[in-house]
Amino acid sequence: MTSTLDGQSEADDSIVVTPINQVRGELRLPGDKSISHRAALVAALAAGESTLHNFSSARDCAATLECLRALGVFVVRDNSAVSIKGAGAAGLHEPQQILNAQNSGTTMRLLAGILAGQPFASTIGGDASLLNRPMLRVAEPLRLMGAQVDLEASGCAPLRIKGRRPLRAIDYQLPIASAQIKSAVLLAGLAAEGATTVREPASTRDHTERLLRTFGAQIKQDGSATTVQGGAELRAREIFVPGDISSAAFFIAAAVSLPGSDILIRDVGLNPTRTAFLTTLRTMSADITVSDERSECGEPVGSLRIRGTAFREPRTLEVSGAEVPSLIDELPLLAFLAASLGWEMKLSDAGELRVKESDRITATVMNLSRMGARIKELPDGWHLESGGKLQGARLASFGDHRIAMSCAVAALCATGPSDIEDAGNSTTVSLPEFWSLLESISQ
Ligand code: S3P
Repeated sequence: MTSTLDGQSEADDSIVVTPINQVRGELRLPGDKSISHRAALVAALAAGESTLHNFSSARDCAATLECLRALGVFVVRDNSAVSIKGAGAAGLHEPQQILNAQNSGTTMRLLAGILAGQPFASTIGGDASLLNRPMLRVAEPLRLMGAQVDLEASGCAPLRIKGRRPLRAIDYQLPIASAQIKSAVLLAGLAAEGATTVREPASTRDHTERLLRTFGAQIKQDGSATTVQGGAELRAREIFVPGDISSAAFFIAAAVSLPGSDILIRDVGLNPTRTAFLTTLRTMSADITVSDERSECGEPVGSLRIRGTAFREPRTLEVSGAEVPSLIDELPLLAFLAASLGWEMKLSDAGELRVKESDRITATVMNLSRMGARIKELPDGWHLESGGKLQGARLASFGDHRIAMSCAVAALCATGPSDIEDAGNSTTVSLPEFWSLLESISQ
């Protein structure tokens, strides 16, 4: 069978994936989602016009741009090029409507950090999934800094924010490892009097720090503590956003699990806070080589070649503790990959997966069970037993882009076709091109 996509039903938006032999070819991916959000938000606070090249095609990042427009920022988009006329540190306008973060936790939490330091009232809402996700974690530090942040009794959004300027600088120990909360506090710190410090229990992605430095803010790193100096005057910049490594992960996993595969992914972000997935695959003996390494606007970039090798002795993959935040978005995919390769996987300390776009522990366990894997759900992870080949099945995306794409990769090397519910639209949250890119390298 050579076709990846056997059919798509308009009515239920499900997609049928049939097994293939291998993936071969070359890919260049849209810009990193995390960096695109941050580049747009920081550019909006800078003086002058910034151009962001290779901006993410994700629906999530379009939500960030829409929110900025509603705050009076002049944003022009020409496909993957976005130009933003920065309003300056205090130049945002009180919005006339509820800011709609749609499905995007990064939009909601980072924007909250910025709005805490703007002297007006605003409300951030989103879709049903986002309105179910915990927001007290971002409200708490912003309240300590002097902003009024009201939530629903459940601790969820809509977030009603009455900002003030200047904010109080704080020294804040994050109770959970979260790049979104760290970033919200650092962005609020720009509007504070003095130096704001955030301390992390484990290292998380550092794109906000790198971008703030690129735009001219003073940022200091001392072990697990990051300090931003308030009152910086940010200057507009031209930014090239590297390809999204978390999107690349799905194609990499496909190549690793299909012997004979050979793909080249050009110009992808290789920030060390995002590459734990590659390191993990290498420990599983995957053949991954990096070339053309360079730095673009403070972010490491390079090209990845992945070759699927024929034989691997299945072993056990264990993930816990500080490794979890560095793999957070790739953990479901790792489980599907481990199952495809017949590996055992033990995951713990990953309760955060339950409050992502879906409950990714339940979603992973349910789908892998349907494919015939022996997997046990744990409160903070799962235990996947080593076993035989996965079977095609009816799978559920839970409307979650990363679950839909993980299911698709596993379905490529299962026996028989799989039907993934609600798969077409959900992938647009991070990678609208997913299905066509997959088709283009499938053989
Ligand atoms: C992100 C941080 C992570 C990650 C999310 C993107 C970011 O969330 O899961 O997909 O861009 O900062 P948490 O900060 O909630 O761990």
